[in-house]
Amino acid sequence: MTAETETALTINNLSLWYGDKQALDSISLAIPKNRITALIGPSGCGKSTLLRCFNRMNDVIDCCRIEGEILLDRRNILEEGGDLSALRRRVGMVFQRPNPFPKSIYENVVYGLRLQGVRDRRILNEAVERALRAAALWPEVKDSLRQNALTLSSGQQQRLVIARAIAIEPEVLLLDEPTSALDPISTLVIEELMTTLKQHFTLILVTHNMQQAARVSDYTAFIHQGKVVEFADTDTLFTTPKQRRTEDYITGRFG
Ligand SMILES: Nc1ncnc2c1ncn2[C@@H]1O[C@H](COP(=O)(O)OP(=O)(O)OP(=O)(O)O)[C@@H](O)[C@H]1O
Ligand SMILES: [Mg+2]
Repeated sequence: MTAETETALTINNLSLWYGDKQALDSISLAIPKNRITALIGPSGCGKSTLLRCFNRMNDVIDCCRIEGEILLDRRNILEEGGDLSALRRRVGMVFQRPNPFPKSIYENVVYGLRLQGVRDRRILNEAVERALRAAALWPEVKDSLRQNALTLSSGQQQRLVIARAIAIEPEVLLLDEPTSALDPISTLVIEELMTTLKQHFTLILVTHNMQQAARVSDYTAFIHQGKVVEFADTDTLFTTPKQRRTEDYITGRFG
């Protein structure tokens, strides 16, 4: 990481158990601000589990126990009693399957702002246009904002979900395999979108697709059996990995 790159999230010695089963083992990582960091690794290695720690989505799982810390602005977000809705305003999330609400395109985008109590029609309208432009969806939907979001194609729905997530201007955007349910063209559109979004947000991308990680991310962490095996800038990790296990994985010897 270059000296001028600021850190958005610092993960120190993070371990996680589901009951007796350890899913994350002493993870330490510094996630660079305004960059795309990819988390790659074989199925079941703990990528989604790690991602869910960043906005405490694991809190709803009863048997889940977490140790270690995740610092956002020097504060440990895992501390007991932390304000979860405040955290989730700062750390947004997009899932594999597009999940717009069965409401209009407009209402999907303003959903978070309405929760925050924003009523001013002009502010809401501006936010809708800004978020839809940023999500590369505005030209396609600007004349049909009142249309039900479920009538959009899945690629459009995924961009709408991204617009909904960024409308409240989070600092960090978590993306868990955001294109794995999409066709190749929609995938490319979202990949281009991610590279423009990093000007304003820090992106953390879980992907099974190593070509995607290589194409869009600036940094990549290779995770295996709950541990970070290697973390480096993406070019280095894919061209000259230091660890044998990384090399075996990226060359397709396992996974
Ligand atoms: N809610 C849960 N309860 C118990 N075990 C879980 C739970 N969620 C995940 N696990 C276990 O934790 C481990 C890591 O799972 P996780 O979903 O984080 O992997 P992943 O790397 O995202 O895999 P994939 O690439 O298949 O999505 C797996 O062994 C999984 O079975
Ligand atoms: Mg997963």
